[in-house]
Amino acid sequence: MAVRAFCSPRRPLRSDAFLLLVLFLVSISCSTSEPQGFGAVGYESDCGLSSEKILIKGGTVVNAHRKEVADVYIEDGIVVSVRPNIKVGDHVKIIDATGKYVMPGGIDPHTHLEMEFMGTVTIDDFFTGQAAALAGGTTMHIDFVIPVNGNLTAGFESYMNKAKKAVMDYGFHMAITKWDEGVSNDMELMVNEHGINSFKFFMAYKGSLMISDELLLQGLQKCKSLGAIAMVHAENGDAVAEGQKRMIDLGITGPEGHALSRPPVLEGEATARAIRLANFVNTPLYVVHVMSIDAMEEIAKARKAGQRVIGEPVASGLILDDSWLWHPDYTTAAKYVMSPPIRTSGHDKALQAALSTGVLQLVGTDHCAFNSTQKALGSEDFRKIPNGVNGIEERMHLIWDKMVESGQMTVTDYVRVTSTECAKVFNIYPRKGAILEGSDADIIILNPNASFKIAAASHHSRSDTNVYEGTKGKGKVEVTISQGRVVYEDGKLKVSPGSGRYIRMPPFGYLFDGIEKADAAYFASLNAPIQRTKSAA
Ligand code: URP
Ligand code: ZN
Ligand code: ZN
Repeated sequence: MAVRAFCSPRRPLRSDAFLLLVLFLVSISCSTSEPQGFGAVGYESDCGLSSEKILIKGGTVVNAHRKEVADVYIEDGIVVSVRPNIKVGDHVKIIDATGKYVMPGGIDPHTHLEMEFMGTVTIDDFFTGQAAALAGGTTMHIDFVIPVNGNLTAGFESYMNKAKKAVMDYGFHMAITKWDEGVSNDMELMVNEHGINSFKFFMAYKGSLMISDELLLQGLQKCKSLGAIAMVHAENGDAVAEGQKRMIDLGITGPEGHALSRPPVLEGEATARAIRLANFVNTPLYVVHVMSIDAMEEIAKARKAGQRVIGEPVASGLILDDSWLWHPDYTTAAKYVMSPPIRTSGHDKALQAALSTGVLQLVGTDHCAFNSTQKALGSEDFRKIPNGVNGIEERMHLIWDKMVESGQMTVTDYVRVTSTECAKVFNIYPRKGAILEGSDADIIILNPNASFKIAAASHHSRSDTNVYEGTKGKGKVEVTISQGRVVYEDGKLKVSPGSGRYIRMPPFGYLFDGIEKADAAYFASLNAPIQRTKSAA
């Protein structure tokens, strides 16, 4: 891996020890402050990175709504102009993109950097995870804040601290793990003061993150009142616990027991339950990591009936199948353990078809990487294997190859599912998710004729394994521009710890349009209460 830190004056980073030293030096030399108001730049490093003037010439500029051959001129981190034959003076970096696609940088809606989970901490932090993202063409992600002992404010502060080493833009979702008045008040604070517009409810992980239906119902109502999107990890956690016991009783203790203990029916059931509760409350619902036909079909049915449900498949569910979990080598099998599980062959293709036809809307990764030592925690009992796989660096390449190169998806739809829809759902479009005048200059240049190969030996994650090891494909991100600076070119990363900005996301995005009208129509339709006269009897 080749990573250069602007703020560190000397040489390429070679090892984690050196990386940590650089981060320490950076953390004491870069001050941070919280942003004021939407669109403000938050937690910005004062390292004084020079802004670049860049002209991207002759490429095919792709937005979700159209593609055109045009030049793109960037100044001070913003797209200034998009049109053919832009003329510029000296001191402008010119990048020839002839024959290549110029697209909005990817936005990954689902990541877990430096998350404490299952007795350990995910191996990628806001430096290595984001460096990996940039090398793969993703320029923003939304990570999940886990409250500290159920406390949202403490969780938010902890994640803001973790993110001081950020090298690209990021936002936060907030998990809700318990319910009381303090949590309810803190949800208001998160939305109105801290720029969070989505809350995640875990219907699984019994005994740790799992919530009850009662809490889910309270949470859905609170989300609606705040204009925040309710997100669910949809698996029936009680049944999963039973399924796990069943496997252990049968003497199945290896990684295959993970898949066998939590079959698709449990994902379908929880998805249907969450959808029905969201329908009852009349609030939008976002289903994260849709891994099975069962869950996808529940989403399809609800959307067909007019309900506002967003379905997010992840790279692993679209690309892989569960045969790896039966691999005789424990380390190989354990790296594929995530929840809901990667499913049998056939679910992947059905999810691809659902993505290409709009039944599912956007692609995440659920990047939640653990190395082989961490995965070994469950070598005697699959219930102890830390759940999670990598993907933040690989998503853009894998989706291009599987969906566009294969002919299943257009280039404009690729931009929609990897970037634009996420920006729209979380209400930061067109600042993000587009190459339009005034948009942030988060841009990638992809060469459709070049190829990629994935390997743990060359990836930028800190993990020693990669679930896509050996995968080859067509379409290579050759240049990544983040905040108007070229951060990845010629296979080299130039990133600056502390340069990542916290992006505030305002409530009441497009999914809330007209909700109050539907409520009014519903109340009008009740024809109640009936004014009754007291009977004489
Ligand atoms: O296995 C997974 N998905 N790990 C991350 C936590 C979650 O459920 O999203
Ligand atoms: Zn989850
Ligand atoms: Zn997740």
